[in-house]
Amino acid sequence: MSGFVEKPEPLQVPGLVHLHTGKVRELYRNEAGDLVMVASDRISAYDWVLPTEIPDKGRVLTQLSLWWFDQLADLAPNHVLSTELPPGAPADWEGRALVCKSLRMVPVECVARGYLTGSGLAEYDETRTVCGLALPEGLVDGSELPAPIFTPATKAEVGEHDENVSYEEVARQVGADTAAALRQSTLAVYSRARDIARERGIVLADTKFEFGFDGDDLVLADEVLTPDSSRFWPADRWEPGRAQPSYDKQFVRDWLTSAESGWDRGSEQPPPPLPPQVVDATRAKYVEAYELLTGQRWS
Ligand SMILES: Nc1ncnc2c1ncn2[C@@H]1O[C@H](COP(=O)(O)OP(=O)(O)OP(=O)(O)O)[C@@H](O)[C@H]1O
Ligand SMILES: [Mg+2]
Repeated sequence: MSGFVEKPEPLQVPGLVHLHTGKVRELYRNEAGDLVMVASDRISAYDWVLPTEIPDKGRVLTQLSLWWFDQLADLAPNHVLSTELPPGAPADWEGRALVCKSLRMVPVECVARGYLTGSGLAEYDETRTVCGLALPEGLVDGSELPAPIFTPATKAEVGEHDENVSYEEVARQVGADTAAALRQSTLAVYSRARDIARERGIVLADTKFEFGFDGDDLVLADEVLTPDSSRFWPADRWEPGRAQPSYDKQFVRDWLTSAESGWDRGSEQPPPPLPPQVVDATRAKYVEAYELLTGQRWS
């Protein structure tokens, strides 16, 4: 079992058509036909959207994504049109709603990995490959790869896992030219971001991008390089050979799997609400990631 403990009712806003409730974001279309993406304070862990929100998470991640789009603007055009609130939107959307160009999305989750973990590690342990790419012997959980790799996945519905696919499969699905462009852009953007993060004490282990077409132009869409789309590890605690502490969700995971929560991860039962100290510590980690990466104070 997985998914929402309680599926939220999307807010109805005059002039906006509600399109979709994601795990973390609400998607609307405005009268001009543009997308309005609103990041909530929802958090997911162990495939569940938890019943407790993390205050400011939506704003912190939206501002972080915008900051990254700026850092990457010379490498990849992006879908952001405006950060202004749509008329009629509630004031509390400020800072977490983005008006974006509606693109013809490429149905591929474009993952770049610089380090081995997660589903990449699982495949490597069985076959010494990730998404069909051969890797050297002797890598362990958290190892840095000889060079970053493009490990695409097909998009899954809420509650399902994305499925890793080979580059050849992507080329079959979207065409050779588009596949090559996705790979090139994904690796270029990842490498830039990895270097920026590393200078600031954060290991960007892997990340997921989504691209769409604006006419013939490939444009970076969705959110980029947030803790929800990436694995960030504190560089000073990076130690291959074990699971690395997650920058943002470690308090949540530790508490959920502790006796105190009373929750059995293997059961079908939804996870319980988070206690205030776990919420506060987690909020502080999001703010810390924002401040470290951008060099700006969160206010
Ligand atoms: N510029 C864009 N044009 C069209 N669709 C976009 C654009 N940017 C992002 N999208 C799409 O909008 C949706 C955003 O939804 P969201 O990420 O909140 O939920 P989800 O992908 O269904 O679930 P998850 O919570 O697992 O990410 C995705 O389907 C994404 O591909
Ligand atoms: Mg998504």
